[in-house]
Amino acid sequence: MKRWRYFAAAAAFSVALGGTAALCAQTGKAEKAQKAGAGVSAAAAASTASAAGAAVYAERFGAVCAACHGANGRSEMVGTPVLAGQYPLYVITQLYLFREGRRKNEAMIALAKQMTDADLRGFSDYIGTLPAVPAPAAGAAPDAARMDKAQVLAKEYKCVYCHGADLAGGQGVPRIGGQKEEYVRTTLLGFKSGERQGYTRAMAEALSQVPADDMALLAYYVANIPAK
Ligand code: HEC
Ligand code: HEC
Repeated sequence: MKRWRYFAAAAAFSVALGGTAALCAQTGKAEKAQKAGAGVSAAAAASTASAAGAAVYAERFGAVCAACHGANGRSEMVGTPVLAGQYPLYVITQLYLFREGRRKNEAMIALAKQMTDADLRGFSDYIGTLPAVPAPAAGAAPDAARMDKAQVLAKEYKCVYCHGADLAGGQGVPRIGGQKEEYVRTTLLGFKSGERQGYTRAMAEALSQVPADDMALLAYYVANIPAK
């Protein structure tokens, strides 16, 4: 699947965060060693260290991030994206963009500017452990005619080519199925106008031929697609 192509760019990105890449390499080595039945004590030490690290970020997430994003990664706060079910590789690229001031949001930039590379990795890994949370049950079922029309658009504009037929994404491509409608609508307009800079140009290109009305319909579809 071509969507994996974009992960290569994201992987190159973690090399830019030197320490982070070294950490990944070490984890990989530790896993291999464990499988081979060798270096067991080194692997055990690494996993104890990472468990302690994970607890730190779970706590920091609860103390800081949960106020807006919700303890389970899904809040009702307007304009605040769902983080539950998101992938570490996507999350780390976005925290990096906020830290660089390339993705605009005052609160997120202020928080990310305080983060070390290890923090970017720690928060991303923690968010990656939060299972997807479905949208709260709506009063009525989504409008079938709008959903059908939007499904055709999602194919025509190749959204499904990268985000997957169920819009669950993977690695560097975000899960968008179940994301909040108004956040998605604003985000799509932002990518198209250049207000939101992506980590790659994938979204700006994907939206170059998409009129605003179709973006609104796509946002409706994305928010209402049944969770997989
Ligand atoms: C004051 C409220 C607030 C707090 C606190 C906050 N966020 Fe955010 N966060 C937001 C908003 C609003 C956005 C969407 C910004 C935009 O419009 O692009 C966002 C976006 C994000 C995104 C991008 C999600 C996506 O789908 O692209 C990540 C990742 C994220 N926040 C992680 C965190 C982490 C980690 C913390 C804690 C260290 C945190 N946030 C604390 C409000 C907050
Ligand atoms: C060529 C691959 C590709 C195509 C086609 C594509 N996307 Fe994306 N999409 C991405 C990537 C990669 C990102 C991460 C953005 C970045 O680079 O920072 C993304 C981000 C998004 C986001 C932001 C999610 C968030 O949590 O902030 C939304 C919403 C989205 N895409 C919707 C769509 C829709 C709707 C379409 C079809 C019109 C589409 N995408 C087509 C690859 C693609």
